[in-house]
Amino acid sequence: MKRVFTKEAVAGSVLARDVYGFGDVLILKKGTVLTAENIYSLIMKNIDWIDIEEAGQETQKSTQGTSEYQDRLKNTEEYKVFSKKYNTNLGELENGINRLIGKNADEKDVNAMMNQTMDIISGLDNGISVFDMLNGIKDYDDATFAHSINVSLICNILAKWIGMNEDEIHLATQCGLFHDVGKVAIPVEVLTKPGKLTKEEYDIVKTHTTRGYRILQDYDFLPEEVKLCALMHHERCDGSGYPLGLKTDKINRYAKLVAIADIYDAMTSARVYRGPLCPFKVIRIFEEEGFEKYDPRYIVTFLQNIADTYVQNEVLLSDGRKGQIVLINKSMVSKPIVQCGGEVIDLSKKPDLYIENIL
Ligand SMILES: [Fe+2]
Repeated sequence: MKRVFTKEAVAGSVLARDVYGFGDVLILKKGTVLTAENIYSLIMKNIDWIDIEEAGQETQKSTQGTSEYQDRLKNTEEYKVFSKKYNTNLGELENGINRLIGKNADEKDVNAMMNQTMDIISGLDNGISVFDMLNGIKDYDDATFAHSINVSLICNILAKWIGMNEDEIHLATQCGLFHDVGKVAIPVEVLTKPGKLTKEEYDIVKTHTTRGYRILQDYDFLPEEVKLCALMHHERCDGSGYPLGLKTDKINRYAKLVAIADIYDAMTSARVYRGPLCPFKVIRIFEEEGFEKYDPRYIVTFLQNIADTYVQNEVLLSDGRKGQIVLINKSMVSKPIVQCGGEVIDLSKKPDLYIENIL
């Protein structure tokens, strides 16, 4: 048996222990063979670690090839520019955030971090390309800093999609960038501990929210929303989040936005197949489990826009057929209308048929 981060679990692994969620509800039983959906769903439920059987994982890894889609993307000039800026920013952000935590950052440092983050996407005219680029960058290990940049960029796009004005978009981006600063203040031994975390240690990890809030409170020039996002980004609209268990009307609206960006990045960073990401599987988990946890207006806008990105893409269906997405169903975003040869299939009318992968 070994303990792994949920986002590093691979489909095909076997659970070595029952998994319990919020309120000690049994989520998955020992012996379950994990699917991509199970893994996304565990991430969604804030289950950070699971215990799996040691055997069986390697075969799964080696049978997965790389995606043509990713290969094509990585050869584009746009991607090369993006990843270069992304890498530069990663180092700078680490320095900047360490200064923040050391209580010796000033407004100039914060502006510099923001400008650099905005610069990563400055040449990209729409959110769609940004998501493509971020999917390409997913090979990185999920250091706190890469995660911060990703969440920041996703917040930027989501803010545009929900119709916020320029100032609000800027603020949303900043909220995303600093939401996890408290993680840096958590002892490394706890964050990277290979064995089982005790309840006390897990509670320590959860304090990154309050720690982050306290760190940012030392800076008068930072907007209150940025501080509240550090505190509230793990709160969920149904009250199942932490640290305070706040419900929907008590959670700051920027924190609701960061919560979506945060969990989307965690889910899409999962190495479920160590290969291509299938956003439709992620969207399905949101449809099944996300609507009580996240602000429905934000989440619907978010999922629809992401799915729209893939219109005209070739996809593999769960019955092995290949087809092309022709239209997104507004009422069931994970189940679009797909053309397979001469046949047009409305997946929303076929309960057992879904998109297995983007080709
Ligand atoms: Fe967090």
